[in-house]
Amino acid sequence: MKRAVPVGPEFHEATKYHSGRAFAPGLQMSPAPPVTVFDASLPRVQLPAPQTVDGPGIWTTIAGRRSFRDFTGRPMTIAQLSQLLWAINGITAHHGGFALRACASAGGLYPIDTYLVINAVEDLPRGVAFYEPHEHRLCLLAEGDFSRELVRAALGQDFCATAAVVLVWVAVVARSAWKYSDRAYRYIYMDAGHLGAQGQLAAEALGLGSVNIGAFFDDEVANIVGVDNHQRIVVYMMAVGPR
Ligand SMILES: Cc1cc2nc3c(=O)[nH]c(=O)nc-3n(C[C@H](O)[C@H](O)[C@H](O)COP(=O)(O)O)c2cc1C
Repeated sequence: MKRAVPVGPEFHEATKYHSGRAFAPGLQMSPAPPVTVFDASLPRVQLPAPQTVDGPGIWTTIAGRRSFRDFTGRPMTIAQLSQLLWAINGITAHHGGFALRACASAGGLYPIDTYLVINAVEDLPRGVAFYEPHEHRLCLLAEGDFSRELVRAALGQDFCATAAVVLVWVAVVARSAWKYSDRAYRYIYMDAGHLGAQGQLAAEALGLGSVNIGAFFDDEVANIVGVDNHQRIVVYMMAVGPR
């Protein structure tokens, strides 16, 4: 549907904080929605414990980071996947009853979940999975080869089929909006940037190639990972795998 007025500036204006309006209009203090939980009957795979010390230095890692698209199709190991997911979404501390994660998040609300389209990971079936940070494990949602579907949904970007894994970041809007109302959307996109940046650094530190993906047909990606794209919205993706 074509709008007469561009929605971007309108959204930006409507969600501004300024003196006299310190909080977004419509602020609600309802309880925060819980973490995403899938049916207990679905298969789970416990990930190996992540390494939390050592590894390559931060400056070397930053200097080496580059977007990479020429994946070989070779698999990555489950240990590499474990380390990557921990570095992006993993629980790194407990403080005052809150589980704090590897990436900063507005209000510590962590609205973004990580889904995975697995093409080639040793010891894992191809398919769609979900990362459960509190248990550091995967929930296997669907088995099968979704690579060609994902390439189509990502505007024909072929590396979605040759990467070992494509992470699909899905925001549960209510997890931020219960506190921040419409300004939540700004924070969700900022949070997504953190995940993408930290994910690329983690991939680099693991000797893997990666590229962040912002170009995709939103509803088609949502359909692959099984979210409604309204309450749970696809915001960003990252393809990763051996160089
Ligand atoms: C928000 C965002 C979206 C991006 N979307 C895509 C994409 O859809 N496809 C792609 O090939 N690269 C994408 N990139 C990667 C950029 O093209 C890349 O970061 C840029 O060319 C700079 O290169 P470098 O990452 O190697 O420094 C994206 C990067 C960002 C930060």
